[in-house]
Amino acid sequence: MPAPRTVLLTGAAGGLGTLMQNLLPAFDYDLRLLDMRPIEGEPDAIVADLADRAALREAVRGVDAIIHLAGISLEAPFEKILDANIVGTYNLYEAAREEGVRRVVFASSNHAVGFTPRPKDGDALIPVDTPHRPDTFYGLSKSFGEDLAQLYWDKHGLETVSVRIGSCFPRPTSVRMLSVWMSPADGARLFHAALTAENVGHTVVYGSSANTRLWWDLSSARALGYAPQDDSEEFAGKLIAEQGELDPENIAQAYLGGHFVSDPPIWPY
Ligand SMILES: NC(=O)c1ccc[n+]([C@@H]2O[C@H](COP(=O)([O-])OP(=O)(O)OC[C@H]3O[C@@H](n4cnc5c(N)ncnc54)[C@H](O)[C@@H]3O)[C@@H](O)[C@H]2O)c1
Repeated sequence: MPAPRTVLLTGAAGGLGTLMQNLLPAFDYDLRLLDMRPIEGEPDAIVADLADRAALREAVRGVDAIIHLAGISLEAPFEKILDANIVGTYNLYEAAREEGVRRVVFASSNHAVGFTPRPKDGDALIPVDTPHRPDTFYGLSKSFGEDLAQLYWDKHGLETVSVRIGSCFPRPTSVRMLSVWMSPADGARLFHAALTAENVGHTVVYGSSANTRLWWDLSSARALGYAPQDDSEEFAGKLIAEQGELDPENIAQAYLGGHFVSDPPIWPY
């Protein structure tokens, strides 16, 4: 049996990182954890900021791949986004290049294209090559990350799958999330596909489950071998009864990015 692949998981203390710490080992990964915050019960986790290039270089040494989740995951002043998400992601890619890491799975976001009008009844699904239309500085940093990944593939042969994650939480909690939800189990399936598919170059995919009310095209994710098993529809009746259907005249409900286009949640730290 081949040895488990060693994968550096950045942002391991966060919501998605915690879910993936629990779900990815079933796919036979040996995870190396990194976050700026210590992780309870994980004394071996690397506590490092993405600003610390020496620490990143040591953290990536010897890994087969990186899942890059660390960063500011909501809206924040530009200077903060610049440090954590733009310079931080650059620092990680430089460390990966210097240490010869072959593959990154980058946690991009639907907010890189958040100002794209969402499909309404009968409209085509949003393709993966729709132009970047970030809805926040946060979304802008994800657009940057995707372009950085393209540069490192074209120039240095470092492969990336950029996953434009919708909402990865145990269950959908809003009517919008019925369209963009990715169950944690499907998230792990998608990350596994992104880590193992061959010859990905730089591939951009949307990250969601096989939702009945899907807004975007999952074909580039499926081409990696991703076969989503979940559908948010089982939660639809209750959420629509509580919140009503989405109103296309309401700016906070008219675009892929939802309320990030009008009143984004602010990073609290
Ligand atoms: N959860 C989702 O549904 C979702 C949707 C779209 C995109 N994403 C992306 O996926 C990633 C994980 O999301 P999440 O929901 O777990 O976010 P989160 O905020 O819960 O976790 C982010 C983690 O990154 C760490 N971090 C922040 N700045 C850092 C720095 N400078 N150096 C080192 N660590 C740093 C934080 O301590 C935190 O543990 C993020 O990049 C986010 O933008 C998540």
